[in-house]
Amino acid sequence: RQYWLVVPAAGIGQRMQADRPKQYLQLRQRYILDITLSRLLDTGLFAGAMVPLHPDDRWFVGSDSASDARILTCTGGGDRSDSVLSGLDALAGRLSDDDWVLVHDVARPCVAAEDIRRLIVGLGEGDIGGLLAAPVSDTIKRQAADADSVSETVDRRALWRAFTPQQFRYGLLRTALGRARDRGVAVTDESSALEAMGYAPKLVRGRTDNIKITVPEDLPLAGWILDQLEH
Ligand code: C5P
Repeated sequence: RQYWLVVPAAGIGQRMQADRPKQYLQLRQRYILDITLSRLLDTGLFAGAMVPLHPDDRWFVGSDSASDARILTCTGGGDRSDSVLSGLDALAGRLSDDDWVLVHDVARPCVAAEDIRRLIVGLGEGDIGGLLAAPVSDTIKRQAADADSVSETVDRRALWRAFTPQQFRYGLLRTALGRARDRGVAVTDESSALEAMGYAPKLVRGRTDNIKITVPEDLPLAGWILDQLEH
């Protein structure tokens, strides 16, 4: 079985309030995109990576990844799941339906090799796939429909936070994301698309320092986490 990566990088990162998409901000003199891709590929586990880019992307060409033969690019779509689906479409012919695809947000550069191995080993030769996730540790409130006050406290005991990578069989993932799009269902991760078809993806416990860089204060935190991981 081959293992491929799809790393959606077509977002514009509006919440970072920066002059460029967040994947092209620098951490320790490197683009976040280059850090994420090299941390994934340096595990030696993958045949290659498909990276969906924004149609107006003018940064990738100047990145270290642009000259890496293991990295292919395609044009992404209007939301994350469209971008992932275009990445899967662009891999047609290279993969068979039973090969594995790991989808990982470009904005999670702190992913640990240990977590990637735990995911792959945890899923083994299962039919479906699963994702890295962690139990919710904060108390969770539901907001009242018409106010910024609390309507209730949600029982958190069965709640998990979904991270990436999320690993699924190529054929099934492509079918699931295609169906979600055809039905106009908005999915914010791969697992939800399979859940909508009645499958139960496996939860594999992941490290909580696999943060998604979203707001400006995440950037120094990610730098610190990377320092720790590399020591
Ligand atoms: O904005 P957010 O962090 O939730 O995006 C998650 C991931 O999806 C990022 O890696 C981002 O680049 C990607 N994305 C994409 N195409 C879009 C929107 C987001 O590839 N249209």
